[in-house]
Amino acid sequence: MLRILVLGSAAGGGFPQWNCNCENCRRARRSEASAVARTQSSLAVSADDEHWFLLNASPDLGQQIAQSLPLLPAREPRHSPLAGVVLTNADVDHIAGLLTLRERQPLTIYATRRVHDVLASNSVFNVLNPEVVKRQTIELEQSAALHLPDGRPAGLAVELFSVPGKVALFLENPDAGPNFGTVPEDTVGAKITDQSDGRHFFYVPGCASMPPDLARRLKGAPLVFFDGTTWTNDEMRTSGVGEKSGSRMGHMWMSGAEGSIAAFSDLGVGRRIFVHINNTNPVLLADTPERAEAEAAGWEIAEDGMDIRL
Ligand code: MLT
Ligand code: MN
Ligand code: ZN
Repeated sequence: MLRILVLGSAAGGGFPQWNCNCENCRRARRSEASAVARTQSSLAVSADDEHWFLLNASPDLGQQIAQSLPLLPAREPRHSPLAGVVLTNADVDHIAGLLTLRERQPLTIYATRRVHDVLASNSVFNVLNPEVVKRQTIELEQSAALHLPDGRPAGLAVELFSVPGKVALFLENPDAGPNFGTVPEDTVGAKITDQSDGRHFFYVPGCASMPPDLARRLKGAPLVFFDGTTWTNDEMRTSGVGEKSGSRMGHMWMSGAEGSIAAFSDLGVGRRIFVHINNTNPVLLADTPERAEAEAAGWEIAEDGMDIRL
Protein backbone atom coordinates (compact mmCIF):
# COMPACT_ATOMS: atom_id res chain seq x y z
CA MET A 1 0.00 0.00 0.00
CA LEU A 2 1.13 3.50 -0.78
CA ARG A 3 -0.08 6.40 1.30
CA ILE A 4 0.40 9.88 -0.10
CA LEU A 5 -0.15 13.17 1.74
CA VAL A 6 -0.43 16.42 -0.18
CA LEU A 7 1.54 18.72 2.12
CA GLY A 8 1.48 21.75 -0.16
CA SER A 9 -0.47 22.21 -3.38
CA ALA A 10 0.42 25.78 -4.39
CA ALA A 11 3.31 26.84 -6.62
CA GLY A 12 6.24 28.99 -5.48
CA GLY A 13 4.91 31.88 -3.37
CA GLY A 14 1.95 29.90 -2.03
CA PHE A 15 -1.71 30.93 -1.97
CA PRO A 16 -2.18 33.67 -0.97
CA GLN A 17 1.30 34.96 -1.80
CA TRP A 18 2.72 37.41 0.75
CA ASN A 19 3.00 40.35 -1.66
CA CYS A 20 0.09 39.61 -3.99
CA ASN A 21 -3.17 41.52 -4.02
CA CYS A 22 -4.76 39.79 -7.01
CA GLU A 23 -8.45 38.86 -6.75
CA ASN A 24 -7.61 35.22 -5.97
CA CYS A 25 -5.25 36.13 -3.14
CA ARG A 26 -7.70 38.68 -1.72
CA ARG A 27 -10.40 36.02 -1.61
CA ALA A 28 -8.06 33.55 0.10
CA ARG A 29 -7.14 36.21 2.69
CA ARG A 30 -10.82 36.68 3.44
CA SER A 31 -10.93 32.91 4.16
CA GLU A 32 -13.73 32.38 1.67
CA ALA A 33 -14.84 28.75 1.61
CA SER A 34 -14.35 28.70 -2.16
CA ALA A 35 -10.79 30.11 -1.95
CA VAL A 36 -8.89 27.69 0.28
CA ALA A 37 -5.34 28.80 1.15
CA ARG A 38 -2.53 26.46 0.15
CA THR A 39 1.12 26.12 1.10
CA GLN A 40 3.98 25.57 -1.34
CA SER A 41 4.61 22.47 -3.36
CA SER A 42 5.37 19.15 -1.59
CA LEU A 43 4.05 15.62 -1.10
CA ALA A 44 4.92 12.95 1.46
CA VAL A 45 4.79 9.22 0.72
CA SER A 46 5.02 6.07 2.81
CA ALA A 47 4.77 2.32 2.18
CA ASP A 48 4.23 1.38 5.84
CA ASP A 49 2.43 4.37 7.38
CA GLU A 50 5.40 4.78 9.70
CA HIS A 51 8.37 6.00 7.66
CA TRP A 52 7.86 8.89 5.29
CA PHE A 53 9.70 10.49 2.38
CA LEU A 54 9.16 14.04 1.25
CA LEU A 55 8.83 14.68 -2.45
CA ASN A 56 10.39 18.15 -2.47
CA ALA A 57 11.00 20.25 0.64
CA SER A 58 8.86 23.38 0.67
CA PRO A 59 9.67 26.68 2.38
CA ASP A 60 6.46 25.98 4.35
CA LEU A 61 7.71 22.61 5.63
CA GLY A 62 7.56 23.56 9.31
CA GLN A 63 3.89 24.47 9.02
CA GLN A 64 3.20 21.40 6.86
CA ILE A 65 4.70 19.02 9.44
CA ALA A 66 2.75 20.72 12.23
CA GLN A 67 -0.47 20.12 10.25
CA SER A 68 0.25 16.45 9.42
CA LEU A 69 -0.27 13.97 12.23
CA PRO A 70 1.73 11.15 10.57
CA LEU A 71 4.80 13.40 10.34
CA LEU A 72 4.96 14.46 13.98
CA PRO A 73 7.60 13.09 16.36
CA ALA A 74 6.16 10.11 18.24
CA ARG A 75 8.99 8.85 20.43
CA GLU A 76 11.30 10.38 23.03
CA PRO A 77 13.52 12.27 23.10
CA ARG A 78 14.21 13.09 19.46
CA HIS A 79 12.35 11.40 16.62
CA SER A 80 10.88 12.07 13.21
CA PRO A 81 8.89 9.79 10.90
CA LEU A 82 10.75 11.50 8.04
CA ALA A 83 13.41 9.26 6.53
CA GLY A 84 14.40 11.21 3.45
CA VAL A 85 13.64 13.71 0.72
CA VAL A 86 13.43 13.23 -3.05
CA LEU A 87 14.01 16.40 -5.08
CA THR A 88 12.63 16.99 -8.58
CA ASN A 89 14.49 20.25 -9.19
CA ALA A 90 16.45 22.94 -7.35
CA ASP A 91 13.76 25.66 -7.37
CA VAL A 92 13.47 27.60 -4.14
CA ASP A 93 9.98 26.23 -3.49
CA HIS A 94 11.42 22.68 -3.58
CA ILE A 95 14.70 23.02 -1.67
CA ALA A 96 14.25 25.81 0.91
CA GLY A 97 12.55 23.36 3.29
CA LEU A 98 15.81 21.42 3.55
CA LEU A 99 16.97 24.18 5.88
CA THR A 100 14.06 23.33 8.19
CA LEU A 101 15.43 19.77 8.40
CA ARG A 102 18.67 20.69 10.19
CA GLU A 103 18.90 19.63 13.91
CA ARG A 104 20.95 16.43 13.45
CA GLN A 105 18.08 14.29 12.22
CA PRO A 106 19.35 11.32 10.17
CA LEU A 107 17.95 11.60 6.64
CA THR A 108 18.89 10.91 3.03
CA ILE A 109 18.47 13.43 0.23
CA TYR A 110 17.89 11.79 -3.16
CA ALA A 111 18.35 13.85 -6.34
CA THR A 112 20.08 13.98 -9.70
CA ARG A 113 23.80 14.80 -9.83
CA ARG A 114 22.94 18.25 -11.19
CA VAL A 115 20.55 19.11 -8.32
CA HIS A 116 23.09 17.81 -5.78
CA ASP A 117 25.68 20.09 -7.38
CA VAL A 118 23.37 23.08 -6.80
CA LEU A 119 23.05 22.14 -3.11
CA ALA A 120 26.80 21.57 -2.83
CA SER A 121 27.56 24.99 -4.29
CA ASN A 122 25.36 26.76 -1.71
CA SER A 123 27.22 26.48 1.60
CA VAL A 124 24.10 27.29 3.63
CA PHE A 125 23.00 23.67 3.02
CA ASN A 126 26.00 22.55 5.08
CA VAL A 127 23.68 23.06 8.07
CA LEU A 128 22.56 19.57 7.07
CA ASN A 129 25.46 17.93 8.84
CA PRO A 130 26.99 15.33 6.47
CA GLU A 131 27.58 13.02 9.46
CA VAL A 132 23.83 12.47 9.69
CA VAL A 133 22.32 13.67 6.40
CA LYS A 134 23.40 11.59 3.40
CA ARG A 135 23.17 12.86 -0.16
CA GLN A 136 22.52 10.11 -2.69
CA THR A 137 22.67 10.63 -6.43
CA ILE A 138 19.96 9.00 -8.52
CA GLU A 139 20.77 8.22 -12.15
CA LEU A 140 18.02 9.06 -14.62
CA GLU A 141 15.85 6.15 -15.77
CA GLN A 142 17.12 3.79 -13.08
CA SER A 143 14.93 2.47 -10.33
CA ALA A 144 16.55 3.06 -6.92
CA ALA A 145 15.41 1.70 -3.57
CA LEU A 146 14.80 4.25 -0.81
CA HIS A 147 16.31 3.44 2.57
CA LEU A 148 15.66 4.28 6.18
CA PRO A 149 18.46 6.07 8.04
CA ASP A 150 19.49 2.77 9.68
CA GLY A 151 20.01 1.20 6.24
CA ARG A 152 16.90 -0.95 6.10
CA PRO A 153 14.92 -0.77 2.84
CA ALA A 154 11.83 1.44 3.08
CA GLY A 155 9.81 -0.68 0.66
CA LEU A 156 9.74 2.13 -1.88
CA ALA A 157 11.56 2.63 -5.17
CA VAL A 158 12.02 5.87 -7.05
CA GLU A 159 12.75 6.35 -10.73
CA LEU A 160 13.62 9.84 -11.95
CA PHE A 161 13.18 10.83 -15.60
CA SER A 162 13.93 14.07 -17.38
CA VAL A 163 10.97 16.27 -18.38
CA PRO A 164 10.95 19.52 -20.36
CA GLY A 165 11.64 22.38 -18.00
CA LYS A 166 13.99 25.11 -17.00
CA VAL A 167 16.97 25.54 -14.70
CA ALA A 168 16.14 27.12 -11.32
CA LEU A 169 15.36 30.84 -11.52
CA PHE A 170 18.42 31.81 -9.47
CA LEU A 171 20.70 29.87 -11.85
CA GLU A 172 19.38 31.22 -15.13
CA ASN A 173 22.22 32.25 -17.43
CA PRO A 174 20.94 35.00 -19.76
CA ASP A 175 23.93 34.49 -22.07
CA ALA A 176 23.18 30.81 -22.64
CA GLY A 177 20.43 31.29 -25.22
CA PRO A 178 16.70 30.64 -25.01
CA ASN A 179 16.99 27.78 -22.50
CA PHE A 180 19.14 29.77 -20.00
CA GLY A 181 21.63 26.92 -19.70
CA THR A 182 19.10 24.26 -18.76
CA VAL A 183 20.32 20.63 -18.83
CA PRO A 184 18.20 17.44 -18.75
CA GLU A 185 18.81 16.76 -15.04
CA ASP A 186 17.48 20.19 -13.98
CA THR A 187 13.82 19.13 -13.99
CA VAL A 188 12.69 15.56 -13.49
CA GLY A 189 9.52 13.66 -12.82
CA ALA A 190 9.42 10.85 -10.26
CA LYS A 191 7.81 7.43 -10.43
CA ILE A 192 7.30 6.07 -6.93
CA THR A 193 6.64 2.34 -6.54
CA ASP A 194 5.63 0.19 -3.59
CA GLN A 195 8.11 -2.68 -3.97
CA SER A 196 5.80 -5.17 -2.26
CA ASP A 197 2.92 -4.94 -4.70
CA GLY A 198 4.13 -2.84 -7.64
CA ARG A 199 1.57 -0.09 -7.02
CA HIS A 200 2.92 3.20 -8.29
CA PHE A 201 2.22 6.80 -9.14
CA PHE A 202 3.91 9.66 -10.94
CA TYR A 203 4.80 13.07 -9.51
CA VAL A 204 5.58 15.77 -12.10
CA PRO A 205 5.19 19.18 -10.41
CA GLY A 206 7.13 21.08 -13.08
CA CYS A 207 6.85 20.31 -16.79
CA ALA A 208 6.99 22.62 -19.81
CA SER A 209 5.39 20.38 -22.45
CA MET A 210 4.18 16.85 -23.19
CA PRO A 211 6.56 15.22 -25.69
CA PRO A 212 5.60 11.75 -27.02
CA ASP A 213 8.03 9.88 -24.75
CA LEU A 214 6.50 11.45 -21.64
CA ALA A 215 2.98 10.70 -22.87
CA ARG A 216 4.00 7.06 -23.42
CA ARG A 217 5.48 6.86 -19.93
CA LEU A 218 2.35 8.23 -18.23
CA LYS A 219 -0.13 6.29 -20.38
CA GLY A 220 -2.42 4.10 -18.29
CA ALA A 221 -0.86 5.14 -14.97
CA PRO A 222 -3.14 4.71 -11.96
CA LEU A 223 -2.32 8.15 -10.54
CA VAL A 224 -0.45 11.23 -11.76
CA PHE A 225 0.22 14.48 -9.88
CA PHE A 226 0.97 17.05 -12.57
CA ASP A 227 2.15 20.65 -12.99
CA GLY A 228 -0.90 22.89 -12.52
CA THR A 229 0.91 26.23 -12.45
CA THR A 230 -1.30 28.28 -14.76
CA TRP A 231 -4.61 28.04 -16.62
CA THR A 232 -3.44 30.15 -19.58
CA ASN A 233 0.09 30.86 -20.69
CA ASP A 234 -0.30 34.62 -20.18
CA GLU A 235 -2.38 34.80 -16.98
CA MET A 236 0.33 36.52 -14.91
CA ARG A 237 0.16 39.39 -17.39
CA THR A 238 -3.65 39.44 -17.73
CA SER A 239 -4.10 39.43 -13.95
CA GLY A 240 -1.66 42.34 -13.74
CA VAL A 241 0.87 40.70 -11.42
CA GLY A 242 3.81 40.20 -13.79
CA GLU A 243 5.08 39.83 -17.32
CA LYS A 244 6.31 36.23 -17.28
CA SER A 245 4.45 33.58 -19.24
CA GLY A 246 3.96 30.07 -17.96
CA SER A 247 6.28 28.67 -20.62
CA ARG A 248 8.97 31.23 -19.74
CA MET A 249 8.85 29.81 -16.20
CA GLY A 250 9.12 26.25 -17.52
CA HIS A 251 5.49 25.33 -16.97
CA MET A 252 2.78 23.95 -19.22
CA TRP A 253 -0.63 25.63 -18.91
CA MET A 254 -3.89 23.74 -18.45
CA SER A 255 -6.37 25.08 -21.00
CA GLY A 256 -6.78 24.91 -24.76
CA ALA A 257 -5.48 22.67 -27.52
CA GLU A 258 -1.85 22.86 -26.34
CA GLY A 259 -2.68 22.62 -22.65
CA SER A 260 -2.14 19.80 -20.18
CA ILE A 261 -5.84 18.88 -19.94
CA ALA A 262 -5.89 18.17 -23.68
CA ALA A 263 -2.50 16.42 -23.54
CA PHE A 264 -3.85 13.92 -20.98
CA SER A 265 -7.21 13.36 -22.66
CA ASP A 266 -6.17 10.13 -24.44
CA LEU A 267 -3.70 8.80 -21.88
CA GLY A 268 -6.14 6.73 -19.83
CA VAL A 269 -4.66 7.87 -16.50
CA GLY A 270 -6.80 6.60 -13.61
CA ARG A 271 -6.57 9.62 -11.34
CA ARG A 272 -5.21 13.04 -12.42
CA ILE A 273 -4.44 15.66 -9.78
CA PHE A 274 -3.08 19.15 -10.43
CA VAL A 275 -0.44 20.33 -7.94
CA HIS A 276 2.00 23.28 -7.91
CA ILE A 277 -0.88 25.67 -8.66
CA ASN A 278 0.02 29.36 -8.99
CA ASN A 279 -1.99 31.91 -7.02
CA THR A 280 -3.22 33.50 -10.28
CA ASN A 281 -4.80 30.25 -11.53
CA PRO A 282 -8.64 30.46 -11.53
CA VAL A 283 -8.96 26.71 -10.79
CA LEU A 284 -7.89 27.49 -7.22
CA LEU A 285 -11.38 28.92 -6.70
CA ALA A 286 -14.16 26.38 -6.31
CA ASP A 287 -16.75 28.57 -8.05
CA THR A 288 -15.05 29.41 -11.36
CA PRO A 289 -15.91 28.08 -14.85
CA GLU A 290 -12.26 27.05 -15.20
CA ARG A 291 -12.53 24.81 -12.11
CA ALA A 292 -15.72 23.30 -13.54
CA GLU A 293 -14.01 22.70 -16.89
CA ALA A 294 -10.99 21.00 -15.30
CA GLU A 295 -13.20 18.79 -13.14
CA ALA A 296 -15.47 17.92 -16.06
CA ALA A 297 -12.32 16.75 -17.88
CA GLY A 298 -11.60 14.38 -14.98
CA TRP A 299 -9.06 16.43 -13.03
CA GLU A 300 -8.85 17.04 -9.30
CA ILE A 301 -7.42 20.30 -7.97
CA ALA A 302 -5.18 19.44 -5.04
CA GLU A 303 -5.68 20.91 -1.59
CA ASP A 304 -3.27 20.69 1.30
CA GLY A 305 -4.10 17.73 3.54
CA MET A 306 -5.33 15.37 0.81
CA ASP A 307 -4.63 11.86 2.08
CA ILE A 308 -4.57 9.21 -0.65
CA ARG A 309 -4.16 5.44 -0.36
CA LEU A 310 -3.19 3.45 -3.41
C1 MLT B 1 8.79 27.78 -10.57
O1 MLT B 1 8.17 26.75 -10.33
O2 MLT B 1 8.71 28.33 -11.68
C2 MLT B 1 9.69 28.32 -9.52
O3 MLT B 1 9.38 27.77 -8.29
C3 MLT B 1 9.68 29.80 -9.49
C4 MLT B 1 10.42 30.33 -8.32
O4 MLT B 1 11.51 29.83 -7.99
O5 MLT B 1 9.91 31.26 -7.69
MN1 MN C 1 7.98 26.04 -8.40
ZN1 ZN D 1 -2.24 36.50 -6.14
